[in-house]
Amino acid sequence: MEERVERAGKLRGTVTMPGDKSIAHRALIFGAMARGTQTISGLPPSQDVKSTISCLRCLGYDIEGEISGLVHLPEREPNSGALLDAGNSGTTARLLAGMISGLGLTCTIDGDASLRRRPMGRIVDPLQLMGARISSGADGCLPLQIQEAPLRGITYTMPVASAQVKSAILIAGTYAEGVTEITETKPSRNHTEVILRAMGIPIEWHHETAEPGDRTRGNVIIKLSGNERPTGIELAVPGDISSAAFFLTAGAIVQDSEIRLPKTGVNPSRTGLLDALKLMGARIELDNLIDIGGEPIADLVIQSSKLSGITIKGAMIPRLIDELPILAVAASQAEGTTVVEDAEELRYKESDRIAIIVDNLKRLGADITETADGFIINGPTPLTGGDVSSAGDHRIAMAMAVAGLVASDDVVIEQSDSVAVSYPGFFDDLRMLTL
Ligand code: S3P
Repeated sequence: MEERVERAGKLRGTVTMPGDKSIAHRALIFGAMARGTQTISGLPPSQDVKSTISCLRCLGYDIEGEISGLVHLPEREPNSGALLDAGNSGTTARLLAGMISGLGLTCTIDGDASLRRRPMGRIVDPLQLMGARISSGADGCLPLQIQEAPLRGITYTMPVASAQVKSAILIAGTYAEGVTEITETKPSRNHTEVILRAMGIPIEWHHETAEPGDRTRGNVIIKLSGNERPTGIELAVPGDISSAAFFLTAGAIVQDSEIRLPKTGVNPSRTGLLDALKLMGARIELDNLIDIGGEPIADLVIQSSKLSGITIKGAMIPRLIDELPILAVAASQAEGTTVVEDAEELRYKESDRIAIIVDNLKRLGADITETADGFIINGPTPLTGGDVSSAGDHRIAMAMAVAGLVASDDVVIEQSDSVAVSYPGFFDDLRMLTL
């Protein structure tokens, strides 16, 4: 499917973001692991979250209720022998590998062509250190074969900044004998820690930082006691900041705009794009800030802004890893140079996001140069219209749609239906703001 996006005069209105995909996967998987019933509201209608639901159903868990509504996960004993299809979802494959190793089930985990290209050695290595019998396919990728084996806790320093890897280890650690301790030199999103704690798991973490109170820099050490099961709770999933990122950028770069995004998650481990846009000069306000179960939530309001280029690197990168494609679009409209460094991980996402965003923005006339671990953009450049590729990657499709709003001619995005991976209603919501 193709989608044609026209230049917008202005963007005005309120859009409610779909539920946070990262939190939704965890709410479901931890619900399956739990004693008692987990009740979840606000799940997004995203294809990735549907993949987690269908894998859990395949394992024999009952998931009652409507996605986007209220879902109940009663306690069940899982089946062995399942072939689980994680679809396009790295979080599903990696977190379930931790859970299945911990449960001691015999299972195979597979996924679509994009997921089959993504590295799995990063979870296989630490899970094997814990005693798991887990092996990957050719080149350390899917399919994963897991067989029954008892686990023991490990002390592990993360070689890459990855919340998926950290979560696979922590999930396995809840089933293991003894303590599991993880050190992150570049802190990644901490939803696993926050939700497991809310579900009664004894888990502690602390930031070793030069400045007290700064939770965004320095090593994080996470410690978990083994042999514990979480308890089912009621969990409300906040709006997804990674989906909000497209509207925050669109509101900033389209003239005469004001967009309100109610009840969006603003966990500091996820708000790198908010900080980057503010540093670039964007006018963003956070209203009605509250905390639900350890996750901060606010109404975000963005107004058209004059942006300037910045440098983004180091510990900032994991805090906006999924937002770098849309940040590149913002940078193309900012005055001066924007440099992104230390972001090689972007090459191992649903597509090689460095290569594809550079190629697409060049086609539209942006001054952008690819580097090994990021890109350099000189702006502002007026964008032209044209055909762009999403490479079947939802975040590339949505980033290019936002580029289309400020391009002189229509931007035509191929495989635009890939947005369903995180945000099926994206194009309708975007169009609604232009009316
Ligand atoms: C996610 C973690 C990130 C992110 C992905 C979702 C998660 O991946 O890119 O979209 O839910 O844990 P990595 O942990 O591999 O960096």
